[in-house]
Formats: sequence, C-alpha cells, structure tokens
Amino acid sequence: MIVSHTSHPARPVAAAAGGPLSGHVQVPGDKSISHRSLIVGCLSIGETRVENLLEGEDVLRTADAVRALGGTVTREGEGRWRVIGVGIGGLGQPETVLDFGNAGTGSRLMMGVVGSHPVTATFDGDASLRKRPMRRILDPLVRMGTTVVEEAEGGRVPLTLRGPRETIPIVYETPAPSAQIKSAVLFAGLNSPGETTVVEREATRDHTERMLAHAGADIRVETEGAGRRITLRGQPELRARDIVVPADPSSAAFPLVAALIVPGSRVTIEAVMTNPLRTGLVTTLLEMGAEIALRNRRDLGGEEVADLDVTAGPLRGVEVPPERAPAMIDEYPVLAVAAAFATGETRMRGLAELRVKESDRLAAVAAGLAVTGVPHRIEGDDLVVEGLGGKVPGGGTVATELDHRIAMAFLVMGLASRNPVTIDDGAMIATSFPSFMPTLERLGASFRT
Ligand code: S3P
Repeated sequence: MIVSHTSHPARPVAAAAGGPLSGHVQVPGDKSISHRSLIVGCLSIGETRVENLLEGEDVLRTADAVRALGGTVTREGEGRWRVIGVGIGGLGQPETVLDFGNAGTGSRLMMGVVGSHPVTATFDGDASLRKRPMRRILDPLVRMGTTVVEEAEGGRVPLTLRGPRETIPIVYETPAPSAQIKSAVLFAGLNSPGETTVVEREATRDHTERMLAHAGADIRVETEGAGRRITLRGQPELRARDIVVPADPSSAAFPLVAALIVPGSRVTIEAVMTNPLRTGLVTTLLEMGAEIALRNRRDLGGEEVADLDVTAGPLRGVEVPPERAPAMIDEYPVLAVAAAFATGETRMRGLAELRVKESDRLAAVAAGLAVTGVPHRIEGDDLVVEGLGGKVPGGGTVATELDHRIAMAFLVMGLASRNPVTIDDGAMIATSFPSFMPTLERLGASFRT
C-alpha cells in the first residue's frame, strides 16, 4: 500500500486594477530546461554546473529525486546549482517514495530514466498529479521492458516501476503531441543498446534533444512534414557540460499579457527564450494587433533569447490554428484572458491536451471566464471567447484547481477588469514562478493576500 499526503492550506489572492505598468523585469529560468538540466546532469559523468535554475517547487522535487537515485545536487547560490552525476546505468535503488508534488514533467521524464534501470521506485504526487494520465508514459516503457509493479486505477500515481536488466530499444510514434512522452522514451533509450526512435506527427519543444546533443549523445533529428523523427544511439557516455537556463517564455507570458491589457503600460521583459517551439503566444498576440518588439536577439547557452518591449493597446479577436497548440500549450489560460479584453471573437482550436494538464484547463478556464462575466463557449476541443474590449466585469472568486497557470492568468485579468478578481488559492504559483507577485508589483501591480 502506497501512502502520500501533499496538501496545504488554501491561500486566496486578489488582484485589482491600478495605474499603468512600467519598467524592466526578468522572469525565472525555464521550467522545462531546469528539470532536464538536473536529469541530464544526473546521467552525465562529472560535475554539471547550472546557472539560473528555476527554484520552483516542481524543479526542487526533481532535485530530490536525483538525490534519491544517487546523484549529488547542491545549491551554490541564487539559481546556481551543481550536479554530480552517476552516469547512464549508474542509478542507485531509492529508499524513499519519489514524490513529485504537482510536477507532471519531473515525474514523467524521471519515469523514463528509472524505468530503464534495474531499480524499483515508487512515484507519487499531489491531488492534481494523482489525476493525470500516466499510461502515455507507461505504454512505451512496458514495450522497452519496464515492469509496472503497482499503479493506481487508470494508470495513475502512486505507481511503482521496476526497470529491466537490459532495456529494449524501440521505434515509437507518440499518440499525442507531447514533449513529455517523447522525452521519457528518449531518456529510457539512453540506457538501451542500439537505436531508439521517437516519431512525432507535430513538433514539440525540443529541449531534451538539444541538451542531449550538447552533452555528446549521438542524436539525429529529421523533419517529417510538420513532425520530426528523432533517433538516439543508446549507452553513450554523456559529458557533464555547464548549462545556462534562459528565462521561461511560459512565465514571461503573464507580465506580457498584463502589459498589453493594463491601459498605458510599457514594460520590457528581459532575455526571454524565443525557441520557435515555444513562441506560439507571441505569434498569436502579434496577429491580435499587440505591440511587442523583440529586441537584442542573442544566443544564451544554445538557445536564442530576446528582450520583449511590450506596449498596451487594443487587441482584436483571431482564430488560433490547432497546429500552433504545441508551441503555446501552457499559454492558453492567459491567452483566454487577453482574448476577453480584445474586440471580437477569439477561437482557439484543437485544445484536447489542455484537459490533462495540472487541471482540466479547458474546464477551469471556462469556469473562470464564467465567474468573471466573460461570454465564451466550448465547442468540441475549441474554446471561443467573446471579447469585451476594455470592459471585462471581473469580480467573483476563480477556482484554481491546484493549477498555477489558472491562478496567474486570472490574477492578470484582475489587474485590468472593472472589479477585482480573487483566486481561491495562490499557493501553486510557487511551482513555476515563485516571484510572480513581486515581479508584477515591481511594475506597479497590486495584490491583496
Ligand atoms: C513540458 C511539456 C508540455 C507542457 C509542460 C512542460 C515539458 O507537456 O505542458 O508544462 O517540459 O516537456 P506535454 O508534453 O504533456 O504537452
């Protein structure tokens, strides 16, 4: 019997409209790259130094898991971390449950790592993670030889995996456009003899591929229509390489939309990662007529970054094509808020994957829009928001459903709506953007806790 309790007292937060936002801000390191830097550090021989690691709760859980598996992870200063790896094949048997809290990425990527090693480990998490589908990870792992010793109903955590003595390399086509599925299979492939191939019909964020190539893995990426075929030769010796984590575009999305909808605002968000597989929100906002200038484009640790100059102004509704979803999958809640302030209708197409995020995000966004007086509808997998121009009523309390991005999106709405917006619980914001409130306050926003 597996037991875990991760609960916390709810912390309501309210946001109210004030004067224009202005100034320069930085947002924390990218969550996806932060998880991967600890994992790849663990699988490398030698010392990996990481700069600007996101010190959010999700990433700290991955750090704990790396330690439980035998790696050494130490914090050297703000955002500066050091990992001493055990190398591929070198994981130790963990003595504790690997509790990933709210983190889908950490848990799923680590299932690929653990499931390809001859150790037995139990994965668990909070009430949100316990609802999320893990079959999408377990199915390919079972084909690679992993045993699912125990699982909660429907293939959920808590679950226990035991890796085989020798992992079987496979060719796997992902059933959904998911970088987590792709990455879990690639991480498992690292400890398999021969070549592991992942085929994705739509390209998703490629941070795993980039980081493995950077660490010296033999990895080939071929374009196939809108998708990719990624082939990895197993059992390389990964070299520990220093990693600089660029600022997270999914966190930048919140001050970005806030600056667009609070009248009179002018804000610069510095050195935001502009990997094209992550910039769907910026593309969409530009189509909506937003004034966003990408300045000073440069390379930072193998990823392109730019400063975003954002000026408030009118937005108009657009149709967001389904093929753009992988490049902005975490940004729909805050796009729905931008759409509420636009004139005309915004139709966001092909959002099926939103139903399996930290919450059922499609339902949570719709419920939040209902509470705050924004007309909208769900049609199949589409979300349609009727823009109200500058006249969003706000008011009411939005249920965040243990979802950090629902929390931040509706607080952003409250900065420009006619009445304040309250969220029932701001605690989960610490999973990805612990400095969210002070960052927006520095620009002139005010929150009440
Ligand atoms: C992530 C991939 C996405 C995203 C998540 C982070 C990653 O999930 O929603 O926040 O780091 O690989 P899916 O791969 O399930 O779409």
